[in-house]
Amino acid sequence: MNDPIKSKVVLTGFMASGKSAVGRALAARLGRRFIDSDHEIVARAGKPITQIFAEDGEAAFRRLEREVIANLAAAPEPAVIATGGGALVDDVNYQTLSRAGTVVCLVARPEVIARRVLASNVTRPKLAEGNLPLEERIVKLMEERKAAYARAAITIDTSDMAVSAVTDQVLRALEAKE
Ligand code: S3P
Repeated sequence: MNDPIKSKVVLTGFMASGKSAVGRALAARLGRRFIDSDHEIVARAGKPITQIFAEDGEAAFRRLEREVIANLAAAPEPAVIATGGGALVDDVNYQTLSRAGTVVCLVARPEVIARRVLASNVTRPKLAEGNLPLEERIVKLMEERKAAYARAAITIDTSDMAVSAVTDQVLRALEAKE
């Protein structure tokens, strides 16, 4: 498919909302490169995210995240970028990303997020905090981040949709914004 969308597409939203899967599918549809900011952070740190959190703390992770996002936003190519679930909470990241392209937030109901988290093999340190049952922790963190996610230009609920259907919906919403 040719690419009718001019600027970068940024996929953000809560953990396990579908950012990477939809980002990959969207990039393929648009013939663009897909970049996952968490992968860039891991490459730069030379260790996995859980190890960055455990050894250096969340603040160090967020500093790296901000640097990586600034670099990705500044690159000239019209990529599809997926961020980690906490990236948009940082106002500097929000400003950087919304200037670089269209920010799309993927959302899903807490029980759907919990199901996907349990089915995945990714360890997510933010969900282990507070020693709460998984779904309660998800509800709490979602509530804390509600205002940050609400700043996205486009919001799509992925709870009951396959990746291909979400991708179609993102494309339609992006085209309507052009
Ligand atoms: C985080 C989400 C993770 C990763 C890190 C922190 C968060 O990415 O960046 O564990 O604070 O929500 P995913 O959203 O891809 O799981």
